[in-house]
Amino acid sequence: MTETSPAETSEAPAHLNGSAAPRLLKGLVLAGGKGSRLRPLTATGAKQLVPVANKPVLFYALDQLVSAGITEIGIVTGDTGDQVRAAVGDGSAFGARVTYLPQDAPRGLAHAVITARDYLGDDPFCMFLADNFLQQGIDDHARAFAETRSAARILLKRVDDPSALGVAILNESGQVTRLVEKPKTPISDLAIVGVYFFGPEIHDITPTLQPSGRGELEITDAIQGLIDAGHVVDSSIIGDEWVDTGKKDDMLEANRVVLGTIHRDVKGTVDIESIIVGDVIVEAGASIVGSTVRGPAIIGAGARVEHAYVGPFTAIGERCIIRGCEIEHSIVMSDSTIRDIDSRIFDSLIGKEVVIERTMLKPVAVRFMLGDHAHVGIS
Ligand code: DAU
Repeated sequence: MTETSPAETSEAPAHLNGSAAPRLLKGLVLAGGKGSRLRPLTATGAKQLVPVANKPVLFYALDQLVSAGITEIGIVTGDTGDQVRAAVGDGSAFGARVTYLPQDAPRGLAHAVITARDYLGDDPFCMFLADNFLQQGIDDHARAFAETRSAARILLKRVDDPSALGVAILNESGQVTRLVEKPKTPISDLAIVGVYFFGPEIHDITPTLQPSGRGELEITDAIQGLIDAGHVVDSSIIGDEWVDTGKKDDMLEANRVVLGTIHRDVKGTVDIESIIVGDVIVEAGASIVGSTVRGPAIIGAGARVEHAYVGPFTAIGERCIIRGCEIEHSIVMSDSTIRDIDSRIFDSLIGKEVVIERTMLKPVAVRFMLGDHAHVGIS
C-alpha cells in the first residue's frame, strides 16, 4: 500500500462535460448505522466519533469534502445523532454548512439517499461513509466527476480479501459493469471504497430497490440499477491508503497511517528527566514527567504522562492520566486513567473515562467491570 495517488482512472469520452462548467457538488455524509463491530465503544458512542490521532474519524471526511470544494453538506444520523450534532455543530468550524438528516432506522446506504432526497434536490453529490478513512482525500476524484456528466463515479481499491465489502467488475475502459455486495465466492479483488459520486439519476433507482439478504437497501444494488438502465458508471482505482474503520484493528491501522505523517510539535511541558524521541505531538497543557515518549505519537491536551513509556503509533486522548505503565500501538480516548500496570499495553483501543489500575486488594486477582461485548486479552 505505497501508492498515494489515483493509480488508474476511467474517463469515457461519450459523457465528458466538454466546455460546460464543472458541476457543483453537495456532500452527503453517512453517520448513522449501528457500529456493532466496535462494541462496547459504540454501545454509548457513535463509531464515527472514535478518534484517529485524537481527531474523530468523521472529521477527516468533513475536512476532505471541504478541501474538494464541497461545503454544502448533509449528515445522515441515527441513534447517536445528538453526539454527532454536538461534535460538528453547524459545520462552520470546518468551513462548511451542515444540515442534519435523521434516518428513522439503519435501513441501508440507499435508504440514506432516500432520506436525503429533498435535501439533495437534483444536485450531484458526493456520498462519504463517515467510518471510511482515506489518507489522501478526494480532490482529484471530485474534480474528475464534476467535469463529466456521468451518472456515478465510484472509488475502488485492490484488496486481498474483499469478502466483507462490496466489489466491482470493470470493462476494458474502466467503466463498472457489475457490482456485488459482500460476495461469498470471490469475483473480483476490486473493493468498493465508501466514497461515491452521484448525479440525480440515482433518485430514479432508489425507490425501486428491494431489501437485500441482510435486510438493507444496498447502494451497490442502486448502482447496478444505474448500469442496467444504460447509464455510465465511472471508476477510479485508488492507490491511496484506505481503511474501513469498522473494527478495532482498522482503527489502529488508520491511527498508524495518520501518525506516520505527523511532525514533532511540543506545546505542553516536558521535564528534564523525560526523553522525547522522533515525531511526537504534545498538545498544550499536557505534561510529560520522568517518561519516555517514542514517536510517532500524540499526547492530547491536558493529559499527564508520568513515569511511563508511550511507544510508537499511540494516541493518548485529552486529559488522560498515564502513570507507571507502558503502552504502544494503541488509542486511548479522552479522560481515561491507566496506572501502575506491569504488562505492556499493546494493540489496544481504550474508550473514554476508562480506569485500568493496580489495586492492593486481596486476594491477588484481576477484577473487571466491563461493558457488553468487551474483549480483554491477558497473557
Ligand atoms: O466501507 C466500504 C463498504 O461500505 C463498501 O465496500 C460496501 O459496498 C458498502 O455497502 C458499505 O459496507 P458496510 O457494511 O461496511 O457499511 P456500514 O453498515 O458499516 O455503513 C457504512 C456507514 O454508513 C457507517 O458510517 C454507518 C452509515 N450508515 C449505514 C447504514 C446501513 C447509515 O448512516 N445508515 C444506514 O442505514
